[in-house]
Amino acid sequence: MMNKFPKINFIGNKEKIADWISNYFPKDAKSIFDAFSGGGSVSYQAKLQGLKVISNDVLTVNHLISKSLIENNFETLDKNDLEIIFSGKPLKGFMFKNYSNVFFFPEECMELDLYRQNIEKLNSEYKKSLSLTLLRRAMVRKMPYSRFNINWDKVLQLRDEENSYEKYKRKRAYHNQSFKSHFLENIDEYNKAVFDNKQNNISLNEDVFNLLGKVKADIIYLDPPYTGTMNNYFGFYGLIDSYISSTIKEPFKNNFVDKKTSIELFDTLFSNLKNYKYWMLSYNNSSFPTKEQLLYLLSKYSDDVQIIERKHNYKVTGKEKKEINKEYLFIVKNTRLLTKSKKEYVTAEL
Ligand SMILES: C[S@@+](CC[C@H](N)C(=O)[O-])C[C@H]1O[C@@H](n2cnc3c(N)ncnc32)[C@H](O)[C@@H]1O
Repeated sequence: MMNKFPKINFIGNKEKIADWISNYFPKDAKSIFDAFSGGGSVSYQAKLQGLKVISNDVLTVNHLISKSLIENNFETLDKNDLEIIFSGKPLKGFMFKNYSNVFFFPEECMELDLYRQNIEKLNSEYKKSLSLTLLRRAMVRKMPYSRFNINWDKVLQLRDEENSYEKYKRKRAYHNQSFKSHFLENIDEYNKAVFDNKQNNISLNEDVFNLLGKVKADIIYLDPPYTGTMNNYFGFYGLIDSYISSTIKEPFKNNFVDKKTSIELFDTLFSNLKNYKYWMLSYNNSSFPTKEQLLYLLSKYSDDVQIIERKHNYKVTGKEKKEINKEYLFIVKNTRLLTKSKKEYVTAEL
């Protein structure tokens, strides 16, 4: 049976081109470090290809996606788990107190508070992360524009099905469907996506700048937020991190949002990649730094840089108007590594 990546709904995901990217994984590579793993589509593709995958994301909600679908090789949710997750009465907890009429209605917040408490009763960390990943998808589906930086007035307006139909000819009824029904609708698909690729895959939850030099892999794949595009990941999903931890989270640093610091971040990133034999970087033609600037930065560290381009059509508005967006894949062979002895570049092994 072919395992399939489930519906995650992640802004800026590489789902449609993960296959294309994976065609360029060097044939001699046995492991990959997906340092900005987000919704996990590239990690999943690499897992399907039998590589040992180490996924990482600074946001806990994204780390849980890869914990449940990449690191987890076996555990799924069964009837008994569902009984635990959905038993009891909605309660006034963290979400009710802090986010009623901010992103969800008070009674919806109370449901989330109940489920959060119940999920802790499950008997394995993988079951907990799979449940939170399903709940994440439900939260994202119920949120207009699928992100948590929309103000309440707009949420109310877009959750009003009549109004939405009048204005946009779409009712968007899924915003008003319950968390539970979204969860149940997707559970089979998520369960089926769990598989064993006979590797000891690992999911991490760190700022990437704390990990370079510590994680060993043949390839490092870099898909950072594209500076200059809509890329505020804490704004999109930070609320779910607050929900998971029951504490109001602060935005993370090193986020690639600011144009002024983005070049410096890339330079620091590249200067710390000596461990990896191959570097693969995704970027596009409407972001900053430009292709030429990135090439300049990369060529400071390697004299073997290849750029693959791919036309990528995406919808600009609800209309059929399409614009050409070029997706780049930089493939860097770490020529320095090849001339140094192994001891010099592997500082730690996971
Ligand atoms: C473009 S998305 C990755 C999309 C992913 N390849 C996919 O297919 O879904 C970039 C990700 O980088 C994460 N991120 C941003 N800054 C980071 C940092 N300093 N360390 C680790 N992750 C970071 C964001 O949380 C976001 O999930």
